[in-house]
Amino acid sequence: MRLSSSIPLISLAAAAAEAGTLSPPQHIFNNPPLSSSSKYRIPTSYESAVLGRRILALTPLGNLATVFPADNAGGQYGTEENRPDGLGGMPHSMMDYVADCEDGGNPTFLAINVETTFKNVHDGSNISLAQAWTPPFPPDKRIESTTTTGLFSRLANWLGLGSDDGSDDDSQPEDTVPYSAANLPRFSLLGYVERINDVSAAALSECFVKKHPDAKYWLPGNRIHESEFVRLVVQQIYWVGGFGDRAYIGWIPVDEWNSVTREEWENVSLPGEKKGWKEWNVESAGDL
Ligand SMILES: *[C@@H]1O[C@H](CO)[C@@H](O)[C@H](O)[C@H]1NC(C)=O
Ligand SMILES: *[C@@H]1O[C@H](CO)[C@@H](O)[C@H](O)[C@H]1NC(C)=O
Repeated sequence: MRLSSSIPLISLAAAAAEAGTLSPPQHIFNNPPLSSSSKYRIPTSYESAVLGRRILALTPLGNLATVFPADNAGGQYGTEENRPDGLGGMPHSMMDYVADCEDGGNPTFLAINVETTFKNVHDGSNISLAQAWTPPFPPDKRIESTTTTGLFSRLANWLGLGSDDGSDDDSQPEDTVPYSAANLPRFSLLGYVERINDVSAAALSECFVKKHPDAKYWLPGNRIHESEFVRLVVQQIYWVGGFGDRAYIGWIPVDEWNSVTREEWENVSLPGEKKGWKEWNVESAGDL
């Protein structure tokens, strides 16, 4: 059913005013110039490092990016059977399991030597790990569309005019990202991979399997795949804490990243760790 012009426009204004109470971001993908006055205090790079170390500790998955070696340079572990020609220098990014088994902020991986990621590493590639904070709870109030169509469809639903008849409809996929991901922290750690020789395999296995129970099938020494524990030696950290008018966006010095203690990252919280949070907040900055 089409909306008629008799829809009271005052409701539209009310909805817009309600949306307006959550002040929209002025700088989204960069920080404002230092000279400008912002209503928010932007966290320091160190405060951001503490949040990042908490994300690393709590987030089991990430994307690992490597670079393919020049053609025919596949070394000890060869290439996939049907690897196409011409991939030399191409980036390759793939999900992998991440753990945080050491205290200094260098992530731990269980490298499987048949994985393309670790073939590239054996062939000399550097590596980067990207992780993003995923809140376990959706916000109580989320950023909503304030476009006219958004408002009209919400109004139409509210007035019973829309296609949503209110019945449970399993055919409607639920919103799998029920929050503003652009306003949440994420980072990329850049560095190289090295084998962990100075921590016992038993301790690493225990730490890794605690986070990834299924990984017990491919621990070092398993009968299926050759595997080993490795660390990403972090050399550079790029951080996007959320919208740039309220979160730090930029590089974090590696000594800051490495010196964050467990006590410090356990002492902060990230948006949405508890129920009843509202978007637009960098709650955690106030906790530091
Ligand atoms: C890895 O990164 C370093 C900079 O940290 C660079 O000097 C080196 O050439 C890179 N290695 C490869 C294979 O690209
Ligand atoms: C933990 O947080 C509180 C409150 O924000 C702060 O006063 C305290 O110094 C923090 N402790 C550590 C170890 O960071």
